[in-house]
Amino acid sequence: MGRKAIDIAKLDVEKLIQMLNEALSEEWLAYYQYWIGARMLEGPMRSEVEPELLLHATEELAHAELVVNRILQLGGTPVLNPSKWIEYAKCPYEEPNDPYVEVILQQNLDGERCAIQRYEEIAEYTYGKDHSTYQMAIQILNDELEHEHDIEDFLADLARLKEDIRKIRL
Ligand SMILES: [Fe+2]
Ligand SMILES: [Fe+2]
Repeated sequence: MGRKAIDIAKLDVEKLIQMLNEALSEEWLAYYQYWIGARMLEGPMRSEVEPELLLHATEELAHAELVVNRILQLGGTPVLNPSKWIEYAKCPYEEPNDPYVEVILQQNLDGERCAIQRYEEIAEYTYGKDHSTYQMAIQILNDELEHEHDIEDFLADLARLKEDIRKIRL
């Protein structure tokens, strides 16, 4: 499949496919981290944070779709067994065993920062060599940067809220 796609890629396609499979595993774990985290959530601003986390979850799934399509175009085999997700992922899955909103947000923030690194790495590897994968990496990277920003905003709002309450008590 996609012989021309493989021919025109001026790089180690096997290495790229491995990187993309790692990214695919990370996207599924990120999806689940957001999705289950949104359900566990407790604490202030929950009604605002929850829908945003669920929106991020669906966007991570859309990334998984982009990545899997590219793996297939390159003639690779996508990860076929979820048991490989943890093994392949470089971004650790952080179990949301503390449901407090700030803890969940911090876990998701760590995940986003790791995803940003991942797509930076793929963009660097493919720059000037595989325009299609490069373009995809940049598209996903822009979403991850936006996700990071959304979470930072929530954490700043929560910090401000706590500060205001502290002042009232003084
Ligand atoms: Fe993603
Ligand atoms: Fe993200």
